Amino acid sequence: MAKLWVCAAGAGFFIACVVLQERFCGPGILRNFAFQVSWRREKLLYRLDLGWPDYSEYFSGTTFCVAVDSLSGLVYVAQRGDNIPKVLVFTEDGYFLRAWNHTVDTPHGMFAASAPYEQSVWITDVGSGSYGHTVKKYNSFGDLVQVLGTAGKKGTGLNPLQFDNPAELYVEDTGDIYIVDGDGGLNNRLIKLSQDFMILWLHGENGTEPAKFNIPHSVTLDSAGRVWVADRGNKRVQVFDKVTGEWLGAWSNCFTEEGPSSVRFTPDGKYLIVAQLNLSRLLVVAAPPVGSVGDCSVISTIQLPDQVLPHLLEVDRKTGALYVAEIGAKQVQKYVPVNRYVSVFST
Ligand SMILES: *[C@@H]1O[C@H](CO)[C@@H](O)[C@H](O)[C@H]1NC(C)=O
Ligand SMILES: *[C@@H]1O[C@H](CO)[C@@H](O)[C@H](O)[C@H]1NC(C)=O
Ligand SMILES: *[C@@H]1O[C@H](CO)[C@@H](O)[C@H](O)[C@H]1NC(C)=O
Repeated sequence: MAKLWVCAAGAGFFIACVVLQERFCGPGILRNFAFQVSWRREKLLYRLDLGWPDYSEYFSGTTFCVAVDSLSGLVYVAQRGDNIPKVLVFTEDGYFLRAWNHTVDTPHGMFAASAPYEQSVWITDVGSGSYGHTVKKYNSFGDLVQVLGTAGKKGTGLNPLQFDNPAELYVEDTGDIYIVDGDGGLNNRLIKLSQDFMILWLHGENGTEPAKFNIPHSVTLDSAGRVWVADRGNKRVQVFDKVTGEWLGAWSNCFTEEGPSSVRFTPDGKYLIVAQLNLSRLLVVAAPPVGSVGDCSVISTIQLPDQVLPHLLEVDRKTGALYVAEIGAKQVQKYVPVNRYVSVFST
């Protein structure tokens, strides 16, 4: 029986938590529950969509990541476990479409690369079996179309390319790929690949200095051409120029309690949503203007119940909906912005 978690906190003036069993209380009862987070000027309300997905029983494993193809209205979820489907495909409305588990060992992160002519999803695989240590591209039916890295063999090599616990990736509309490798393995690297998989630049060292990493766990881009990396072990977000790879700055003042696990921008580019795993917390952080990184400023906090453990999240670039993969609660939850504060996806 699925548990329903509803919880919110806004700038210390409003806290509410509800944990329900579906058996006792149907999702409809709380469907209109909304929580308020405080903003400097405008108010952003996210409403937990308890009807997403239509049956939570699809989550039969530990849900590590989620990807959204906003052009096609598809949501992909990857989970770990024995004898279960590893990848689940839903519509944005929560209808289950299909699943697969062939060639997926231990998924960690994923990214849906939307294009009008091609629906695809990339998965980073941290498994130690014959499909592990890779970054793989599938079409939306689960056919494997590309493998990056050396399957079944972890390593530090660049030619041929090897990974160890590749954590996540971001794919631009141009086909350029940004990979963070990885999640506590041999490597602490950020790699940019061209659409034909040539290395364009990389930062590849373990350490605490600028442009070095300790568990680079999530990567995303903004519309100003900057690459944002959740450098989790170093409790900071680092920022790079996407063309040159030049280091532009870092934020650490928001992450003194725990390093960031996931980074994604809202579609209007105004806010960075950051997950903090063990704190079971999402931070809404103001994005800095182009040309400066400055200090980090938390606009609001969304406190989830203890042990929900939000691992990686994705934002729908069309609707602004937030999908959070929770490894503690073993589910993906969808949060919908109540006010249409988001303009249609802008580049
Ligand atoms: C693949 O998923 C199916 C259910 O969709 C399950 O019955 C089967 O055992 C899984 N296989 C593996 C190797 O996990
Ligand atoms: C990276 O450095 C940290 C401490 O600075 C250390 O705990 C970790 O084991 C190192 N990782 C690798 C892959 O060498
Ligand atoms: C979360 O807690 C676990 C267990 O204590 C620990 O191994 C892990 O490093 C922590 N993760 C972060 C991001 O702090």
